[in-house]
Amino acid sequence: MKRIAVLTSGGDAPGMNAAIRAVVRTGLDKGWEVFGVRQGYAGLIVGNFIPLKARDVSGIIQQGGTVLGSARCLEFKTEEGQLKALRALHQQDIEALVVIGGNGSQKGAYDLWRMGFPVVGIASTIDNDLYGSEVTIGVDTALNIALEAIDRLKVTASSHQRAFLVEVMGRNCGYLALMAGIAGGAEAVVIPEVETDPEALAAELRSSYERGKSHALVVVAEGAKYNAEGLLQYFQKHRERLGFELRATTLGHVQRGGAPSAYDRLLATRMGAAATEYIARGEYGLLMGLVKGEITGTPLEEAAHKKKELDMRLLRLAEVLAK
Ligand code: ADP
Ligand code: F6P
Repeated sequence: MKRIAVLTSGGDAPGMNAAIRAVVRTGLDKGWEVFGVRQGYAGLIVGNFIPLKARDVSGIIQQGGTVLGSARCLEFKTEEGQLKALRALHQQDIEALVVIGGNGSQKGAYDLWRMGFPVVGIASTIDNDLYGSEVTIGVDTALNIALEAIDRLKVTASSHQRAFLVEVMGRNCGYLALMAGIAGGAEAVVIPEVETDPEALAAELRSSYERGKSHALVVVAEGAKYNAEGLLQYFQKHRERLGFELRATTLGHVQRGGAPSAYDRLLATRMGAAATEYIARGEYGLLMGLVKGEITGTPLEEAAHKKKELDMRLLRLAEVLAK
């Protein structure tokens, strides 16, 4: 009988619970013992394991967040921290570990794999910046939450002929901002991948009013050089030249805490089930991700080191659609 463990790490993402549930129940179905690790790598270092049975993951598929808890754990980035984690895994006789998380977490998973421990990753982050999965767990829910806010802000913006800056999450990646901008019909999108000139942005917004629009909405990624706060400060200094009234809303963690959408529940469930299939076949060192519609294993080495590029044609499309 195999003993496997599962943990969630980094920023929580709606759908993580569905992935935990799928790992637990498909693992139990194979006759294995399954353990959860509390608080990600921080819990792993101190050996915080709990046995998980089918009923322990009841009623969680519809919940956002992660019932196992998550953490940003600096100690795990050190060799000493990773050796402590390995010791804890061996003490508990764990034979394989499933790491549910984003690109930092998968770098950690790759380190454990390089050190000889059997690891399988599951691509989960609302940022969608992880190489090896076209879509990661949580993105769909976060986007829908951002869209609901954008739709509402447009209503009040139109009533007052105002411009709005809406800041969405995305540490170094403009995916959420670009997609929310397209789906929300924004007048402009500001992302870290492209340098934004605030003057050119202001001119673009003025031209929106000249084309007969009653509002101007800009979706800004938090990781952009000029985030919502930065743009607001810049525009306040040059208020007399702006030509319209401006407000800013930062959505922040609101985007991360929602109940997972059907898409995220199904994606997470498929990835969780794939993880135990790979473990059953003895295939490790791989990230479970969505590639051309199939859940596919990509080497953790690639997931940890390669950069997922944003499709810049979509930025051009967003500009055309804003006319
Ligand atoms: P995410 O997984 O959502 O990208 P983080 O980047 O915060 O979130 O990473 C989560 C955790 O993964 C970190 O707190 C740390 O313990 C571990 N981690 C991050 N980067 C590395 C790295 N380069 N090497 C090893 N472990 C890492
Ligand atoms: O990685 C997911 C994410 O939500 C990023 O979009 C954001 O920059 C970061 O986490 C926020 O981290 P924290 O929850 O630690 O403030």
